[in-house]
Amino acid sequence: MNDSADSGRLDGRVALVSGAGRGVGLAIARTLAAQGAKVVVADAGGAINGEDPDASVAETVANELGDSAVAFTNSIADAGAAQAAVALANEAFGGLDILVNNAAILRDGFIFKADPADFDAVLQTNLAGAWYLTNAATPTMRQHAKDNRGGAPYNWGRVVNITSTAGFYGNFGQSAYASAKSGMLGLMRTTAMDLARAGITCNAVAPFAATRVTDTIVPANDEQAVYKERALKVSPDHVAMVVAWLCSPKGQDITGQLFGVRGREVFLFSQPRPVATLARDDADWDVTALSEAAAENFSALYTDLRTDLEVFNTDPKV
Ligand SMILES: NC(=O)c1ccc[n+]([C@@H]2O[C@H](COP(=O)([O-])OP(=O)(O)OC[C@H]3O[C@@H](n4cnc5c(N)ncnc54)[C@H](O)[C@@H]3O)[C@@H](O)[C@H]2O)c1
Repeated sequence: MNDSADSGRLDGRVALVSGAGRGVGLAIARTLAAQGAKVVVADAGGAINGEDPDASVAETVANELGDSAVAFTNSIADAGAAQAAVALANEAFGGLDILVNNAAILRDGFIFKADPADFDAVLQTNLAGAWYLTNAATPTMRQHAKDNRGGAPYNWGRVVNITSTAGFYGNFGQSAYASAKSGMLGLMRTTAMDLARAGITCNAVAPFAATRVTDTIVPANDEQAVYKERALKVSPDHVAMVVAWLCSPKGQDITGQLFGVRGREVFLFSQPRPVATLARDDADWDVTALSEAAAENFSALYTDLRTDLEVFNTDPKV
């Protein structure tokens, strides 16, 4: 890496990273701070299922980052708390240029056995929390764009949604988590559209990284066991660098995209678009006609049911 070309790219910028106390979010917070940004370390410090909050998790990270950071320790799964987190960025550092929606919890269970309360908690944290923060943060970013904060033009305003391949491949027992993560893709696309005129970008990143979550994967078959062993070798720092790139001036023209990061592999994912079309000009469809036309035009194109853990089961580049 060329240090002179690559350092200090986020000087004068302020970032809010949810779930920055551990794992992927911690790596992102450290990397953004190392690139010169001030960081609001927003983390409630709970267990993987969201219970037992612990303020010391975010406070320890903020202390480590020193003058570059402040801790926000309330749960972001609440609209008022999201407003308060953004207010803290404004008070402590005079603005907010970057939002990384990374906080998430897991409460797995097969769809036919799962508890609706677990679904509600997962959606509230992983999807509603991201919506609340985006809703709270983007008025400040739009104002910065109008004011040309830091000098004209304001080439900033970044939202990065940390999603998961579980949201578009799926995985056993993760109906709540996958629903929230795929919801983040719709949120990402619409946020990108709503903010395009202001020059503010929004993208999604699906990480693969060794964290406490990877550690708790219970393999459902041999392929998943191999996946877990390989996943535990992958540092979250690679994900953080891709997020830093999207948040840098070089990310200005990239919006509405879905990326993945697994060690030194960076993926650009396609987004669902029709891959085949059945169309009739002369009559409505009936069951027989649909069956015959689908067998001919769709059946070879149906998406298989492999989980994300089975698809990404090659040796990572680390
Ligand atoms: N690790 C992987 O391989 C992987 C794979 C796919 C997606 N992800 C995604 O990456 C992100 C980070 O995951 P991780 O593996 O680092 O998990 P992690 O559990 O290590 O970190 C998540 C952090 O979010 C915090 N958090 C949870 N709910 C919160 C709330 N309501 N308010 C504030 N903070 C809250 C937790 O306290 C925790 O510190 C998540 O969005 C996760 O879905 C990770």
